Amino acid sequence: MNDRLSNVSPFIVMDIIKRTTELENVIHFEVGQPDLPPTEKVKSALMEISNSLSFPYTESLGIAPLREKIAEFYKKYYNLDIPINRILVTPGTSGAFLIAYAITLNSGEKIALSDPSYPCYKNFSYMLDIVPEFIPVDSSTNYEMRVEHIKELKDIKTVQISSPSNPIGNIYGNQALKELVEYCDNKGINFISDEIYHGLTYTGERVSSALEFSDNVIVINGFSKYFCMPGIRLGWMIMPDNLVRKAEILMQNLFISASSVSQQIGLYAFDYEHLERCRDMFKERRDFLYKELSEIFKVDVVPEGAFYIWVDVSKYTDNSFEFAKELLENIQVAVTPGVDFGKYNTHKYLRFAYTRNIDHMKEGIERIKSYLKSKK
Ligand SMILES: Cc1ncc(COP(=O)(O)O)c(C=O)c1O
Repeated sequence: MNDRLSNVSPFIVMDIIKRTTELENVIHFEVGQPDLPPTEKVKSALMEISNSLSFPYTESLGIAPLREKIAEFYKKYYNLDIPINRILVTPGTSGAFLIAYAITLNSGEKIALSDPSYPCYKNFSYMLDIVPEFIPVDSSTNYEMRVEHIKELKDIKTVQISSPSNPIGNIYGNQALKELVEYCDNKGINFISDEIYHGLTYTGERVSSALEFSDNVIVINGFSKYFCMPGIRLGWMIMPDNLVRKAEILMQNLFISASSVSQQIGLYAFDYEHLERCRDMFKERRDFLYKELSEIFKVDVVPEGAFYIWVDVSKYTDNSFEFAKELLENIQVAVTPGVDFGKYNTHKYLRFAYTRNIDHMKEGIERIKSYLKSKK
């Protein structure tokens, strides 16, 4: 194996999911995907497509009607006019990150990533010989990467954030986001904003896209979370004008196009009434789980978006990886250990996902409570 890949770590949650399939009666707090179905309209679209028996490649940027729907999404949520020639449809956001990193960074150059953050960012970097510069973040800045974190650092070429974030569920305040984007813009640093959890926000306040503060940012979003369709592997990216052609060329070579079936289905996913009902359901679950977990452990930041709660379990263990294993093997409660997301204090934390219904979660909480009692 080459050296470049030696740094690529397992995506631990995927290993946990594999283990849960070998156990019975598991309570799932590990899974980072919605259990709610997409709108019924998707089903009829799927029937129609399967009747047509036509599965062509599409143009590499994606089919125009889908890119138009995506442009409408930006108008509706952010009042932004995004020309469709800046929109690229990708195989999941995962495909989009590879393109964004390959375009903005040469081998050996540095990308600033929060620690903790979504594990695949660093692994995409390693695969491309890019050097991740980990920025430790905690509750003192609401887990936001701020200008003061990066202004003393040398040679940062790209900054990547996600908001709402995985694994914390924090949302960047509009002012903090604006300052960071504008700082990067002024310094000629590329800015990549992962907005895959937009829509799943519970504060009642409008959440800004990084696109509102600069046309130079790369924004990545997709159908896996808010749109409840992780398995169709569809994402998109909004590129600055001057990078569109480069991204298109990479798309042509790496993927040819996103799946034509998925793109056809994606057209029907923008049923906003349905999406808002799903969001309300996640909010109810968030309210329930946040209250319950705060009574047992410590939660140092209110989870305002996505579907995760970042829980400090140091009252019970100084090794949350082993603790997660204990919970899974002894009481069949699956959670994700903090180390999946980085190194900074992550041994103290577990990530709980509220991607199952309240009755399911209630059972999990009961099991955890009696397990902790039995250990005393
Ligand atoms: C922050 C974040 N970005 C990207 C992804 C990957 O999404 P996709 O299914 O679009 O590849 C995930 C998946 O969990 C995520 O949590």
